[in-house]
Amino acid sequence: MAEIINGKVVSASVREEIAREVALFREEHGVAPGLAVIIVGEDPASQVYVRNKHKGCTEVGMYSLQIPMPAETTEEELLEKIGELNADDSIHGILVQLPLPKHINEDRVINSILPEKDVDAFHPTNVGKIMLGKYDLLPCTPAGIMELLSFYNVDIRGKECVVLGRSNIVGKPMSQLLLAKDGTVTVCHSKTVDLASVTRRADILVVAIGRAGFVTADMIKPGAVVIDVGINRLDNGKLMGDVDYDGVLDKVSMITPVPGGVGPMTITMLLKNTLTAAKKKFSDK
Ligand code: GUN
Repeated sequence: MAEIINGKVVSASVREEIAREVALFREEHGVAPGLAVIIVGEDPASQVYVRNKHKGCTEVGMYSLQIPMPAETTEEELLEKIGELNADDSIHGILVQLPLPKHINEDRVINSILPEKDVDAFHPTNVGKIMLGKYDLLPCTPAGIMELLSFYNVDIRGKECVVLGRSNIVGKPMSQLLLAKDGTVTVCHSKTVDLASVTRRADILVVAIGRAGFVTADMIKPGAVVIDVGINRLDNGKLMGDVDYDGVLDKVSMITPVPGGVGPMTITMLLKNTLTAAKKKFSDK
């Protein structure tokens, strides 16, 4: 019988630890770790994420600054706002909610955030540090997955790890983190020839492609640990991951459900990054 990896339980446990550390930080430094979240426009899904980030911050005792900007905001106005936050001592982490309106260049925006305040870890400096294995800030989704694997004592060393999907936000950094833990890592994607023969090798399979139910039982090695990053909304309104959960359940040793697996970890890791950034600021002084 497969063990279900419970992201809510792990998330609550990590948040308790963060809250304890935030209390100590406030005692020691007289300020709270502060996170600023900028949202441009009124995309409803983004608004929900941003609200949840705000709630997460306040629940662990952090300072949360929400900055809504209208959809017509120019790139210059956004860059100016980021400049202000870069210079603001009460703000230790800055996140610009993506996607941005089409007229704004995402790369220029990400590059304008000070790397030490870049709690998404999207800035090229932070991406480079991950390649070098010398990082402070990790992108939230892969970091959350590593936390889940650790909590459930999944041994990565020497194992066949297959990452399906090569995005900058999930697949690429995920492969680096598994490699840093001595996994034998393969990254596959939409152009991979005979995909199933690759995924069937995986002791640990991480799937992040955004296609509902794409990974089926025939693509899985018996006893594999399966991490499903996908959150796909079906026509009937239900959420489904990238893995055919019901179809693979008898074949895997552990699996993350959707919802309730990877999802609950991401904001938790954002809070952890904000705490890390705040601590680093004082330790670098
Ligand atoms: N939009 C969806 N996910 C994310 C994320 O992890 N970071 C940012 N900045 N925007 C997002």
